[in-house]
Amino acid sequence: MNDGMESPTPASAISSADEVRKLRDELDKAGKKLVFTNGCFDLLHAGHVRYLAQARALGDALVIALNSDQSVRELKGPSRPVNTEEDRAEILKGLRSVDAVCVFTEPRVTRLIEQIKPHIYAKGGDYTIASLNPEERAALDFVGAEIEILSLVPGRSTTKTLQRIAAGEVESTDAPRKMRIGVLGSGTGSNFEAILGAINDGSLQAEIACVISDRDDSGIITAARKAGLPAFFVNPGSNAKRFPDSAQKEVCEHLQRANVDVVVLAGFMRIVRDPVLTEFKDRIINVHPSLLPKFKGSDAVQRAIDEGELETGTTIHLVTAAVDDGRILAQARVPIEIGDTAEVVHERIKKEEHKLLPQVLREWREK
Ligand code: GRF
Repeated sequence: MNDGMESPTPASAISSADEVRKLRDELDKAGKKLVFTNGCFDLLHAGHVRYLAQARALGDALVIALNSDQSVRELKGPSRPVNTEEDRAEILKGLRSVDAVCVFTEPRVTRLIEQIKPHIYAKGGDYTIASLNPEERAALDFVGAEIEILSLVPGRSTTKTLQRIAAGEVESTDAPRKMRIGVLGSGTGSNFEAILGAINDGSLQAEIACVISDRDDSGIITAARKAGLPAFFVNPGSNAKRFPDSAQKEVCEHLQRANVDVVVLAGFMRIVRDPVLTEFKDRIINVHPSLLPKFKGSDAVQRAIDEGELETGTTIHLVTAAVDDGRILAQARVPIEIGDTAEVVHERIKKEEHKLLPQVLREWREK
């Protein structure tokens, strides 16, 4: 017997095609527009929420055509969906941007488009108008729907979230979250090894979330792969002087996907620009082999020797748009002896960097 304390079973959040068609006709009469989009919407994330808000803003009401459980299984594999169609519909219906949810069981959403006759069809930016399914495209043209491709929020995806959970990357909420470091480098990777060493010996509570290099044969990328870390080569293109916009974007997406807290440029021989600078503002540090502000730019060690300096060193600083110019976080000095080559001095500098860099990261984490 129901004692009145149990939560009532909610009425189904799923609307029939006829109900949505009625809504469409009412809107039409009032000179308003129905927006239609479709998808699996399995584990809802911020990317979905923002996408649906954008879709809703295209018209006056939004209907979602939701893939049935069976069709999600066919598309994504036997372990999906995580949530049933009833639950997915209920969650979606709870969003302010969503007016109705219909479920479709066929592989294509063609029939629902024909039944509902939406005014506007919205699709995520992983599609182009040309790459829409021809059958669905024909149905949209037939009902006279406007097609709008919306940009997706980078780095958010149900599949990626599930992969992170499966890889044990998502920690339980009672464990303190480890600082996630993204390391960019072009060279041997000894500074990367120093960070990894400090993590492994327990002196730095952090994890290396990704390693990115502009050279697929660099020591850093080989070492990262050997350590079983996510390591990415980003093709710099043919111009040795310029790291193109597409590569900057790719770097940014890797860092975002890896959910990085701090970015370390450890011998990255490229100038980092937007979108990375804006996205990780005040969270990018560089290791430079001189006592800044002296000897900014390349060949810093050789130039210090050529200038007859008796000492040089290393500087760890924040990265801004101006090269080797951001706020200094730490420095260490090393002597230059008579007859020293740049290689000898650089090795001396690196020994200091290997202590200083983990130290700066420790302080960063504490802050
Ligand atoms: C470091 O000396 C750093 O100061 C400079 O590049 C070098 C990188 O060395 N920017 P490694 O690849 O970490 O061994």
